[in-house]
Amino acid sequence: MAFRLYEGADHTSVYAKYRSVWTTDITDRVLTYLQEKFPAPYMYDHAIDVGCGSGQFTHLLAPHFKQVTGIDISANQISAAIKGNDKKNITYKVGSGECFSIADQSVELVTCVQAAHWIDMDKFYAEAYRVLKPNGCVALISFTFPEFGAHPQAKLLTKPLGNYYDKLWETSCPAEMINRLKHVYNRYPDEIFACRPPLEDHLRDETMTIVHDMTVEQVVGFASSSSGYVKYVKKYSSSDILETLQKNILKTLGEDATLDTVVRVTFPVFILFGRKPG
Ligand SMILES: C[S@@+](CC[C@H](N)C(=O)[O-])C[C@H]1O[C@@H](n2cnc3c(N)ncnc32)[C@H](O)[C@@H]1O
Repeated sequence: MAFRLYEGADHTSVYAKYRSVWTTDITDRVLTYLQEKFPAPYMYDHAIDVGCGSGQFTHLLAPHFKQVTGIDISANQISAAIKGNDKKNITYKVGSGECFSIADQSVELVTCVQAAHWIDMDKFYAEAYRVLKPNGCVALISFTFPEFGAHPQAKLLTKPLGNYYDKLWETSCPAEMINRLKHVYNRYPDEIFACRPPLEDHLRDETMTIVHDMTVEQVVGFASSSSGYVKYVKKYSSSDILETLQKNILKTLGEDATLDTVVRVTFPVFILFGRKPG
């Protein structure tokens, strides 16, 4: 079953505002893997970023490739990506993660960031194999539930945030959607997400994190960018679940806390690599 959860213009703009968490450490890790079989100096031709959203990760690839293409099934995500794009070598287009409109053997890298759990992996990997040049790589990248620090009470934020996500899932997400979201929390189990032959050299990297200092306002905004929240507000249009979350966060941090209070948010990252034989 396909899920079309990122279609509304309102949600897309919230997503663009609060989900730009990716850093160059992660692109550097991906390039290190790619360079094992494409030793420097090598000018890469083309990378594609499948399920690119509004370009959160795509733009970080631009300095390393002559051409980068971001593909997403949601027309609204793609218009937000085009609007925010300041890189001449990036093209964004509406398309499917199961059937890429990209020429055979034309790219060195296929990334799929925070999106693989929405895509049919057998079809995705068949397409990745088709479009990759020999020795080209695929990388599924995601982060999972964050840890909080820096503020004396920040560690306790796991509870209100956890309760918020549990409520979204329990009250408004169909079982199939919950199963897919659970794959993220289970860090993309190999039996579903590892690359299929003839792609080879499956490698899992769980060593990296992304760290951001975020205000309480940004943490609540981040929580509102979840696909579960979209489902929830569709069902309960006059819901105050976000106000409740904000109140609980402020209460947890103590009476001096405001929307501008800063906490350190550490997202554990996991990457699943695969390679086309040379
Ligand atoms: C959680 S967002 C990730 C966006 C971005 N890559 C990021 O890291 O923030 C998931 C994206 O996958 C897209 N998506 C879902 N199913 C898809 C499919 N079958 N083919 C292509 N894109 C899909 C959604 O439209 C959405 O933009």
